[in-house]
Amino acid sequence: MLILGIETSCDETSSAILEGGHGGIKIISNVVFSQEKIHSKFFGVVPEFASRAHLEKINWVIEKALGGKKLNQIDAVSVTVGPGLMGSLLVGKTVAQTIAYVLNKPIVPVNHIEGHIFSIFLENKIKPPFLALVVSGGHTELVIVEKIGRYKVIGKTRDDAAGEAFDKVAKLLNLKYPGGPEIERLSKTEGNYNINFPRPYMPETFDFSFSGLKTAVVYYVRDNFPEGIKKMKLIDISSICYSFQKAVIDTLVWKTIMASKKFNMKKVVVCGGVSANMALREEFVLSGKKEKIDIYFPSRKLSTDNAAMIACVGYYKIKNAKFKIKNLEIKVDPNLKLTNWQ
Ligand code: KG4
Ligand code: ZN
Repeated sequence: MLILGIETSCDETSSAILEGGHGGIKIISNVVFSQEKIHSKFFGVVPEFASRAHLEKINWVIEKALGGKKLNQIDAVSVTVGPGLMGSLLVGKTVAQTIAYVLNKPIVPVNHIEGHIFSIFLENKIKPPFLALVVSGGHTELVIVEKIGRYKVIGKTRDDAAGEAFDKVAKLLNLKYPGGPEIERLSKTEGNYNINFPRPYMPETFDFSFSGLKTAVVYYVRDNFPEGIKKMKLIDISSICYSFQKAVIDTLVWKTIMASKKFNMKKVVVCGGVSANMALREEFVLSGKKEKIDIYFPSRKLSTDNAAMIACVGYYKIKNAKFKIKNLEIKVDPNLKLTNWQ
């Protein structure tokens, strides 16, 4: 079975072909056009520019993903319908609906967060139950994956997502968008010193909150560098990056390990854009070894938004015969919640 995946929920226009069958699943192609350059001068995603750019690039990414294949060789279409930016989601959904309608093939609406979780199945043999930390620009959620299609969200952010905090701190420091990779790069600068930023552990809950940490960085800069960012030395900027990143990592690792102990989960999946961070991965691996918990990550290029993970959810939903949907009834939902379908 060949699944065409389409993902346009934020600022990546992506299309993929996934092959699924008795031998498992295989990524045939996974084309991602990143709009980074369009949004970087605004230090964040501008929704109107994002949807326009999706519209301009969507045909190109689909054609590139098809390679030499013809559209009618596709058995089904799988598309992100939320959560995400309304205008961006509409582009992918409309294109997917049109292709499925013209080819008379099934279409599968996919939740983006579920897509991030399923990115782990693209390269790993892991089976549920497991605990997943989905940590991206829009989400920070702890999800118990009881089985495929059955989830329990045990914690989520009450304000900023971890990736959003990375992007906002990067903006404050006049660094490029997206902020995560920039902060990670500067965190490795030789001679960095540690600033003791707060760790928002909130031990009474599995929810997260990163806006206080972000504000602590704002106050630190205001109080210690009254002449502004432009007068700061590189070592001061990179030390803030290092210390901020450490505070985020400590919080994510601590909370996830606490949750895996509480719910007796021996397998933990860390996915979503922020999971591309190498320091985060190292810290998770160390803690996992200590606590005898197996930690799984998608490869770095599958951590950030891509259509292969969306096609993967589509494949599993189609395999489940109960799942039937009428093409023209599909709707996008910017605030779509993770729901059970098994
Ligand atoms: O999953 P993703 O591509 O899109 C969303 O679903 O939001 O995640 C993007 C987020 C951005 O906030 C970006 O700054 C962050 O992931 N990110 C990173 C790294 N690479 C991307 N954060 C920390 N370290 C990184 N290396
Ligand atoms: Zn994402």
